[in-house]
Amino acid sequence: MPVPLSPDEAHLFLESDAAPAAFLDLLDAVSFRSAAAGLRLGVFEALADGPLPVDRLAERTGTDPLGLRILLDALAGYGYLTRARGQYANSANTARWLLRDAPGSFAPALSFWSTVLTGWWQDLEASIRSGGPTDDFYAWLEKHPEALADFHTMLRGLADALGPEIVDLVPVPAEARSVLDVGGGHAAYPVAFLTAHPQLRATVVDLDGALAQGARTVADAGLTDRVTLRPGDLLTADLGTDHDLVLLFNIVHGYQRDAVAALLRRAAAALRPGGRVVLLEPLAEVPERPAGPGEAFVRMFSLNLFHTQGGRAYAYDELAALLDEAGFTDARQHMLTGSDTDHLVTAVLAG
Ligand SMILES: C[S@@+](CC[C@H](N)C(=O)[O-])C[C@H]1O[C@@H](n2cnc3c(N)ncnc32)[C@H](O)[C@@H]1O
Repeated sequence: MPVPLSPDEAHLFLESDAAPAAFLDLLDAVSFRSAAAGLRLGVFEALADGPLPVDRLAERTGTDPLGLRILLDALAGYGYLTRARGQYANSANTARWLLRDAPGSFAPALSFWSTVLTGWWQDLEASIRSGGPTDDFYAWLEKHPEALADFHTMLRGLADALGPEIVDLVPVPAEARSVLDVGGGHAAYPVAFLTAHPQLRATVVDLDGALAQGARTVADAGLTDRVTLRPGDLLTADLGTDHDLVLLFNIVHGYQRDAVAALLRRAAAALRPGGRVVLLEPLAEVPERPAGPGEAFVRMFSLNLFHTQGGRAYAYDELAALLDEAGFTDARQHMLTGSDTDHLVTAVLAG
């Protein structure tokens, strides 16, 4: 957690040049990494039922008592744990957000981003020098089951939060029959559409490991007979034709402009005339974004996209121009009340 500063210290580090602000970043980076270690070592789960002394915690987590004590003291200093009468306990924030079965748990996000920042970001300079990613992010993810599960659990959590509002915002005519979700992975969005619109069937195109995650969501919702999970490369696979709705949720930001243009043309070819394409994206350059961490997140996210995939966060105007080029009309941007960073962009295929 960010290092708490007195007003004098804040002035020294943040408002004057008397102390290096990068020192605070160093401490915050260590705090983040220590929290991920606490999570991965099972410390927070081991403390879920109440406080424990270090020896009992070391037994439960299979760790070295001295190393663990030093980590626990660091986590207590950063606010992830509390320490009293020789026992450690989860802080209220840890108990609320870092236990795996807490509602809307942040644990998958902490684990996933820690993997990305300590692995992929080691050579951040390389992509900035060369102008392209050093590896294929999604091929890598398919080969790392733990990171893959964290990634889709994190995105499924977001989908559970945003899904109902998105379904309300997207008009689905009574005669509509088919929704195509390109790169739909965990499949929570098509499940939300099918639950609200009993006449719809869905096809989800994605890579094998991602679809294995989606199969669980579809089965849990009892919708296996209405959803087809189709393995394939979204840039080349047969997407079918005459769909009423094409979802491109968190997809175009993985690509550079020309590839986005090609993807939107593929979406157009898969739709019936008058059908609708729906994009969900963290958008860059949103003037009305409320103050807070949203803007910082989008900048971090865009840098991560460029480094890992060669993509970036797009501004609405760029997407609207690309949709127009691909034959869509009536492009619109929708703010979501459930998120400062995620926006819906919809457009209709010219008839
Ligand atoms: C950022 S996730 C978005 C998942 C979901 N649409 C959402 O918004 O939560 C990107 C998805 O695209 C899939 N994907 C990436 N590259 C792909 C490719 N070349 N072919 C098929 N699927 C791909 C990934 O496996 C992943 O499920």
